Amino acid sequence: MMIETAELTKTYNGRGGCRGITLQVPEGSIFGLLGPNGAGKSTFVKMLAGLHRPDSGRATVLGQPLGRPEARQRLGYLPELFRFQDWLTPVEVLRFHGQLGGLRPQETRTPAFRARVRDTLELVGLAEAADRRVGGFSKGMQQRLGLAAALLLEPELVILDEPASALDPIGRYEIRSLLKRLRSKGVTVFLNTHLLEDVEELCDEAAFLYGGELVAAGPLQQLLGSTDGGSGINWRFRLGGWLPETWTELTGALPGTLASLLNLAESDNQGNALIAARVTDREQAGYLCSLFIRSGLTLYESGPEPYSLEAWFIRMAESRQGGVRQ
Ligand SMILES: Nc1ncnc2c1ncn2[C@@H]1O[C@H](COP(=O)(O)OP(=O)(O)OP(=O)(O)O)[C@@H](O)[C@H]1O
Ligand SMILES: [Mg+2]
Repeated sequence: MMIETAELTKTYNGRGGCRGITLQVPEGSIFGLLGPNGAGKSTFVKMLAGLHRPDSGRATVLGQPLGRPEARQRLGYLPELFRFQDWLTPVEVLRFHGQLGGLRPQETRTPAFRARVRDTLELVGLAEAADRRVGGFSKGMQQRLGLAAALLLEPELVILDEPASALDPIGRYEIRSLLKRLRSKGVTVFLNTHLLEDVEELCDEAAFLYGGELVAAGPLQQLLGSTDGGSGINWRFRLGGWLPETWTELTGALPGTLASLLNLAESDNQGNALIAARVTDREQAGYLCSLFIRSGLTLYESGPEPYSLEAWFIRMAESRQGGVRQ
């Protein structure tokens, strides 16, 4: 495990923070930490990054107890709400970060280090702004620079506290591809985020905090399944050419297990129908598409149910309301 915590607790004079968090983050995964504002996500990652000392509990990061310099050098951390000094340029900021990460000043003046700085700025889309003063940067540019600082020393683990909160849609798309690329290189990514579409697309596993406590954790599909009954993907199909008897014909033609997965969500008297299914994978959804077409229906739309994670998030939060100490 890349991160392992047991009953990790940190409060601020007995209030807020997070309590009793037991969590495992597998190596090479993208792990999303979710939860409403004030849930304790940043408190938790600050402990992992060695910035906050826990009140109680245990944790290892990269196999080392919290706060060890050996582990700190192998992890990259993007804090939430930070600002770099206005008068520095990205190149200077990264040189400084190189030193914070354990390099000697002369090591940050070598051509190899300079090339790494340029490559990292390129990676986050800041190559053009490499020598401009940070003072004139937009929020999104600051955030990209923060990400560059976290990635500079090629960490094995990156801990990102809302990496895309200030980014425009293109920036968010770029960061998603970047995080996937990191995972394909074996880097473990732990991120706090409110962007549920990102979690749905990126994360292998997720955890949900509420009121400082861990409410659920595990593989994403399993979590989504845990409140909707069973694993799989909620899929929907929009069809045309629908007749009142189509439903009986269609389900009659299907093997029982598959027929039981289908629900007719709505149909109107113009021949339009909306069908929802819980499919095991995309291939099964494709099989259903071909079946609809063979039955003479027109397939207007087929895709995963949007915002299933949002619905899950809201259900989790609602189920906890009133039941948590603060
Ligand atoms: N430095 C601090 N002093 C006192 N209380 C704090 C401090 N930092 C956080 N808290 C409290 O601890 C709780 C958790 O805060 P935290 O910042 O960890 O939440 P979060 O889940 O990261 O929220 P957000 O989504 O808004 O970033 C909140 O009630 C907050 O008020
Ligand atoms: Mg936070």
